[in-house]
Amino acid sequence: MKGIILAGGHGTRLAPVTRAISKQLLPIYDKPMVYFPLSMLLMSGIREILLISTPEHLPLYERLLGDGRRLGIEIRYAEQERPAGLAQAFVLGRRFIAGDRVALALGDNVFYGHGMSGMLGSVASRQSGATIFAYRVSDPERYGVIEFDADGRPVALAEKPERPRSNHAVTGLYFYDHRVVEIAENLVPSERGELEITDVNRAYLEMGELHVEKLGRGVAWLDTGTFESLLQASNFIQTIEQRQGLKVACLEEIAFHQGFIDTVSLLEIADTSEDPGLRTYLRSLVEQRDCDEVPAG
Ligand code: G1P
Repeated sequence: MKGIILAGGHGTRLAPVTRAISKQLLPIYDKPMVYFPLSMLLMSGIREILLISTPEHLPLYERLLGDGRRLGIEIRYAEQERPAGLAQAFVLGRRFIAGDRVALALGDNVFYGHGMSGMLGSVASRQSGATIFAYRVSDPERYGVIEFDADGRPVALAEKPERPRSNHAVTGLYFYDHRVVEIAENLVPSERGELEITDVNRAYLEMGELHVEKLGRGVAWLDTGTFESLLQASNFIQTIEQRQGLKVACLEEIAFHQGFIDTVSLLEIADTSEDPGLRTYLRSLVEQRDCDEVPAG
């Protein structure tokens, strides 16, 4: 399975901090925001990743993440000239996807919770159909909204409806089989002129092949769209990391636990890291490995 990270857009709601930098590079406590969706893809077992951003910002991502080899993965890059909707990712990524299954992670989506890693692994192994994640929020009108029938089956999807028919938002992490490219290519742009991801999901719903995983209250799906929520996300991650002494969305740790890199490579990263905290942390992972299993995430 392949993975795409979409880190486009202008982040205008966060001006002036986004005037000179991409929103998805802003820090969530001790790491760039884009590390969070990337960590989701790694936890899903995905090693081939395409990052899509604006021509202006793409070099910044390349500088940050490189070709991925040090993490035992492959990262490629593609330009989105102008934001024409999330589903455009599959059109731009057609050659990269090359008939495989593909996951899409939005560059500004931050998840944290127990059992994510196991759940992602099983979702990624589903061979056919699409899988999306529903999360209860207090302000569903800001998101894609999914409606369920009395038996909990998905029946309708709406993009930012004025009067939401449920409190379940659709999060920015999606898994599709190979048909997604064709579906995206045949979409008609919405009123705001975009290829909507909600229309892609509706196509799978109409085929009876949309799986919806409900993320329960033990999972945090954090908003990063306003100054308040950005600060809250940073505080949340800092609280967890400091309390447990474990890092959230530490790419090196996840790559190690997934078996993408071995002990020698992890220690090499530790030795060459400019961050003394990370150096100590990565070394401690190797020492702890023989004593107990620390779940990644
Ligand atoms: C996009 C999608 C929306 C989804 C959201 C999740 O909205 O269009 O369906 O709920 O991402 O982050 P955007 O954030 O681009 O407004």
